[in-house]
Amino acid sequence: MKTEPLVLGIETSCDETGVGIVRGYTLLADALASSVDEHARYGGVVPEVASRAHLEAMAPTVDRALADAGVTLSDVDAIAVTAGPGLAGALLVGVAAAKAYALAAGKPLYGVNHLAAHVAVDTLEHGPLPEPAVALLVSGGHSSLLRVDDLTGGVVPLGATIDDAAGEAFDKVARVLGLPFPGGPPIDRAAREGSITIPFPRGLTGPRDLAEHRFDFSFSGLKTAVARWVEARERAGEPVPVNDVAASFQEAVCDVLTAKAVAACQEHGVQTLVVGGGVAANSRLRALAEERAAKAGITVRVPRPKLCTDNGAMVAALGSRLVSAGIAPGKLDLPADSAMPITMVTT
Ligand code: KG4
Ligand code: ZN
Repeated sequence: MKTEPLVLGIETSCDETGVGIVRGYTLLADALASSVDEHARYGGVVPEVASRAHLEAMAPTVDRALADAGVTLSDVDAIAVTAGPGLAGALLVGVAAAKAYALAAGKPLYGVNHLAAHVAVDTLEHGPLPEPAVALLVSGGHSSLLRVDDLTGGVVPLGATIDDAAGEAFDKVARVLGLPFPGGPPIDRAAREGSITIPFPRGLTGPRDLAEHRFDFSFSGLKTAVARWVEARERAGEPVPVNDVAASFQEAVCDVLTAKAVAACQEHGVQTLVVGGGVAANSRLRALAEERAAKAGITVRVPRPKLCTDNGAMVAALGSRLVSAGIAPGKLDLPADSAMPITMVTT
């Protein structure tokens, strides 16, 4: 029997330098170096700082992943790297490193799509993905609904944010509330102590919006509404109920995300919903997705939080699927593409 492919994956699209090693559907190593602390005082990721951090972390993180998995580079069957979408300079570091490793070790190289990798990572936890599936991907950089007919080459975009990403809204609202960056985890915690008392707006859910933006999202109006609400309290000299604002804001985000994701499944006759990206770590999003999907007879698959945020395992997981499906590798001059479309799973 042929053994499953051993794939090393490299991720550098944002602020995490991730190197994962996967054999088939089995995760062997998931080494991560994050520059998140260096961005905290700016309240958002600074591209130049991220690129430099990737450069410093790359070789040590690859070495750590190989050691954790107990393999050497010559054991690897293929190398996969995030080719896009993401920060151009950050992507370049990963792509250049992956080319160097592939060339030096004589291995095939796959440039892969970051969003498709967020979907693929779920197979490491829950096994082969039933296709078609709908994927809800929500992070600091993206908020998308996709129909996944074939993880290795048939991904159809259904909708996306028209302004801020969901995680970006969490980060900006946290700032308004005086909570640290990144804002998702502290808002999640604060919301558990609060009540949903403020009716913040649900973007793109009115009848006119739904006609034009059925599966799109908008979070910038919500972010502004929260900021105005907080300012009004402060101007009136009243204390800001941080926990209630956090709970009410979080509910507005999770309500729209889950309603549209379930509707997408129903309208496309799909029985499986995969949720991924950093915001998929949100406890309310997980619970509400579960509750609404169950009512509609849909199965939800959400990987554990560490696999939801950016990491190298997701890239290796997609690489492993591509190798198994017999998809040809990319060329050694494959480009990093900051705007890589989701219809392109691999370069
Ligand atoms: O996927 P990710 O690590 O990187 C990007 O590609 O952006 O996602 C990071 C985003 C940040 O905006 C962060 O605030 C958000 O995910 N996040 C959360 C939670 N944990 C992380 N948002 C809501 N609730 C959480 N528990
Ligand atoms: Zn991501």
